[in-house]
Amino acid sequence: MAYLSSPHVTHHFHDVVIVGAGGAGMRCALQLADAGHRVAVISKVLPTRSHTVAAQGGINAALGNVLSDHWLWHMYDTVKGSDYLGDQDAIEYMCRAAPLVVRELEHQGVPFSRLDSGMIYQRPFGGQSREFGEGGQAARTCAAADRTGHAILHTMYQQNLRAGTHFYEEYFALDLIRDEAGCHGVMAWDIAEGRFHLFQAKAVILATGGAGRIFRTTTNAHINTGDGAALALAAGLPLEDMEFFQFHPTGIAHVGPLITEGVRGEGGYLVNSEGERFMERYAPHAKDLASRDVVSRAIAREIREGRGCGPDKDYVLLKLDHLGRDLIMSRLPNIHELALRFAGVDCTKEPIPVQPTAHYTMGGIPANRFGEVVAPGSDGPETPVPGLFAIGEAACVSVHGANRLGGNSLLEIVVFGRACGNRVKKWLREHRYHHTLDPDCWKPGAARVTRWLEGEARNGARRVSEIRLEMQTVMQDHFSVYRTDASMREGLEKLESLASELAGAAIADRGGVFNTELIEAMEAENLMRLARVTAASAHARTESRGAHAHEDYPERDDERWLKHTLAWLEDDGVRLDYKPVRMRPMTVEPFPPKERVY
Ligand code: FUM
Repeated sequence: MAYLSSPHVTHHFHDVVIVGAGGAGMRCALQLADAGHRVAVISKVLPTRSHTVAAQGGINAALGNVLSDHWLWHMYDTVKGSDYLGDQDAIEYMCRAAPLVVRELEHQGVPFSRLDSGMIYQRPFGGQSREFGEGGQAARTCAAADRTGHAILHTMYQQNLRAGTHFYEEYFALDLIRDEAGCHGVMAWDIAEGRFHLFQAKAVILATGGAGRIFRTTTNAHINTGDGAALALAAGLPLEDMEFFQFHPTGIAHVGPLITEGVRGEGGYLVNSEGERFMERYAPHAKDLASRDVVSRAIAREIREGRGCGPDKDYVLLKLDHLGRDLIMSRLPNIHELALRFAGVDCTKEPIPVQPTAHYTMGGIPANRFGEVVAPGSDGPETPVPGLFAIGEAACVSVHGANRLGGNSLLEIVVFGRACGNRVKKWLREHRYHHTLDPDCWKPGAARVTRWLEGEARNGARRVSEIRLEMQTVMQDHFSVYRTDASMREGLEKLESLASELAGAAIADRGGVFNTELIEAMEAENLMRLARVTAASAHARTESRGAHAHEDYPERDDERWLKHTLAWLEDDGVRLDYKPVRMRPMTVEPFPPKERVY
């Protein structure tokens, strides 16, 4: 075959190729490598630099180590937190599995913080309750101080090294190898060497994380450019519920790094310029531990009504000095360091300036609870795309619906990473041989690189970095915590014109080896795709639900909008369609929509 004789494309054969080395990809890889499969993980960074490392506060599981708890209460909170847009069968699955997977993590070596009894330490987080909201606050978030993601990611990496997973580090995924029979592999670019690689596999798993970098100020790392979701769009698949982007209430003002909800879980609280604990007005019961959409909207409103702090009155203060230095240094040491480094504040003495900051992509590649990517069938019911799977923040299962609860993200990656591994094991039993590929299958992926390296150098074309920054600014200004029809319409028009500019842009560095300008250009392409579907999905949804606060339509509208958005990116723009929410859990009674009060 042509590519086999080409000096430019190295052909690899694996049973499974996983794109992304965060917690979801690594947990899935472990399940498969331990079963004896030949697993490749390709990652554009060193695996332990994946963004899971930045997750702070913890992972939810109804262990009941501190206060009594039950997985059904966790399920109720998650459904309510999702503003009833979450799929209840998937939510039941996740909440039921949580205690098991957390104990499994413990046995795999995650160094959880401990209670005096020796049991795993659990802290309260937002949106948690007991007895279906009647029993007060729960303490459900299992923590390794405020570095829980770091602890989990490093443990998963070590376990994968033991299990023999093959890591391809600093490889950038260019394209899915797909035909009418399904997905058979991934084309990738070796960043360090500047060479093409074709990874052929019987199953491909997208675990590339979120796309926080579509916004200007975000808690997300620079690598969070939604690469897997963009590959799915390019392969003609839709993305689900992209209008629901979570703003974490407490990013460090103006710069973005995350200040964990665990600060409020440990007893910290928010104050405005008048020194008022304003959350008491917005959420009389849960106060600072209401769900994130509620707290972010409250902060945005305080700022808008002139009660923000600082010279521009554009942030509020997170007070925790009253917790005492000992507690801060033992349970929140990373926060102490971040506040010092990024805000110049010693939080044992002074409050931290915070504002809502883009944090989490609730939407993503439509997937079921087994990690199978599902596409709408021509005659109604959706069907799995053969050989293609998606997990973690890249996927939309949907367990978070319109608003994710803190602590459910680390949970999701472990539960569905594991579940997907089990489903792929079954898939591999039924699909034992590699598919015969079209000899030209590598060409579209390679063209993504050659378009930048060999394309015409246009005089006067704008730099990709300028276009990307302008796109991020448009998203920040027009699709933030509060949205209006006029502003979103204007934002959409700006994005379409920026997309055309990007298509005509060029880069200066034409070298192959470690060409970071090239990688940033391809990341900008991915971000632009995701920004366009996010914006179009948001503009179309004429109601307010969870993280989508539409000022022209301030109420939730279950009659018209209790449904998931599907968005395709086609030659003539974004096409939208909708599918029903899965309201039936697997074994328990459903939680029907009702008014959401915290
Ligand atoms: O606030 C936090 O520690 C973030 C946790 C999460 O997003 O789940």
